[in-house]
Amino acid sequence: MINQFRKRLITLTTIFVAIILTTAFAAIFLTTYLKQKSDNLEKLNQAEQLRITGGKVTFDEKSDDMVEINRIVPGAGVYFNMLVDKSGKPMMIDSALKLSKKQYHKAAKYAWKNRAGGVVKINGREWQYVVAPAIAKFDYGSKEQSVEKDDETYLMRFLDITDSKKSLSSLAITLTIVGIGLMLLFFLVIIYFTNRAIRPMEEAWQKQKQFVADASHELKTPLSIISTNVGVLYTSKDETISEQLKWLDNISSGIDRMNGLVNNLLRIAKTDTSFEQLTISEVQLDRVLENSFSHYEAKFEAKQITVNKMIAKVTARTDENLLGQLFDIFMDNASKYTNKNGSFDLILGTKGKETTIKFKNTGDGIAEEDLPKIFDRFYRTNEVRQKYAGSYGLGLSIAQSIVEQLGGKIEVKSSVKEETEFTICLSSKNSRDGKYKVIS
Ligand SMILES: Nc1ncnc2c1ncn2[C@@H]1O[C@H](COP(=O)(O)OP(=O)(O)OP(=O)(O)O)[C@@H](O)[C@H]1O
Ligand SMILES: [Mg+2]
Repeated sequence: MINQFRKRLITLTTIFVAIILTTAFAAIFLTTYLKQKSDNLEKLNQAEQLRITGGKVTFDEKSDDMVEINRIVPGAGVYFNMLVDKSGKPMMIDSALKLSKKQYHKAAKYAWKNRAGGVVKINGREWQYVVAPAIAKFDYGSKEQSVEKDDETYLMRFLDITDSKKSLSSLAITLTIVGIGLMLLFFLVIIYFTNRAIRPMEEAWQKQKQFVADASHELKTPLSIISTNVGVLYTSKDETISEQLKWLDNISSGIDRMNGLVNNLLRIAKTDTSFEQLTISEVQLDRVLENSFSHYEAKFEAKQITVNKMIAKVTARTDENLLGQLFDIFMDNASKYTNKNGSFDLILGTKGKETTIKFKNTGDGIAEEDLPKIFDRFYRTNEVRQKYAGSYGLGLSIAQSIVEQLGGKIEVKSSVKEETEFTICLSSKNSRDGKYKVIS
């Protein structure tokens, strides 16, 4: 699911970036193209500046000579004009270029055929042309080319657009190459940032998946015990209940285990969702701790554990319920994991803004390699897994989550076959939004 989400996010972002890039580049290309088109048209339209002076035709109000001789008008581009009669035959050529008569005639023929305007290829170059009626009727000097006043004449203007076309196509190539390069770069950047953004989500998703898998696995064990033992009962229907007690005990312990597990799972669900929903009030920590201890006192006594209490009076603003749950988890562990005739130290003290609660007990202890794992959900050390039926490996993970909510931290020290010490530090400094605040 996360992978699908990642793929979709990358695809959508890439499409979005591609659209923006393409639009930007298309806009650059289109503006250049339109500018060039209008420039060319402007240059071509200058063809209408045909003048009559003293019965003779001139272009651009210049003398006859200047029309025929090399004439370069700055900004007008490379062009030539032709005056043609009503059958499209050239009557006069105004050109500064060295083209053969044949080529001019070929150009005129083509342009006459396609009078609406277009592009013709002459001498390996492309010429855009316009054909327009000459602006006036006039006489032209020489006998053989004389134009009567009312003769219909047309003006053709050819503009060399080879270079502008070339520059346009090289712009298109440049934009395509830069576009592809940028797209590749953006694609890599998008992948990098998407992966970074998704990582915490992926971790949470993995944890959730692991949790569901572990919870199902843990539930399967007592369920299979129950179903096996029920199966045995069915095969011996004629026996009395007291004769079947062994199977019934197994079923009952399976039910107890499932009950404990489900309760713990509910507690986890509650601590996970109750984030931000704390009920803060003035709480006497020493009382909550004593109260929690009283729940387990009988267990300590049964194992003849020496309990040493050093409990200072501490009042703080915090969530009493959560705190009670937290203390219960450590009391439960101490009562379970302290060896018979061992000892248990319970210490509560405060220093400035910081409150420390210590739970120290003798016993098997926790091996160094197990220490980082004991806060993981469903983690139990091997000895505990074998010895204690009522252990689910959920207590410390719940404790961790509670302490996180209150803005504190848990530290653990242990030496195998000697002792284990858990220290909870709650501090006004670390706790944002006043979730924990020492009053006295
Ligand atoms: N006071 C302790 N002394 C020695 N080992 C401990 C102590 N507290 C916890 N541990 C070790 O850490 C493991 C995890 O403890 P945690 O409280 O999370 O689970 P649990 O006690 O096994 O089961 P649960 O609390 O869910 O009933 C325990 O299985 C045990 O191996
Ligand atoms: Mg526990």
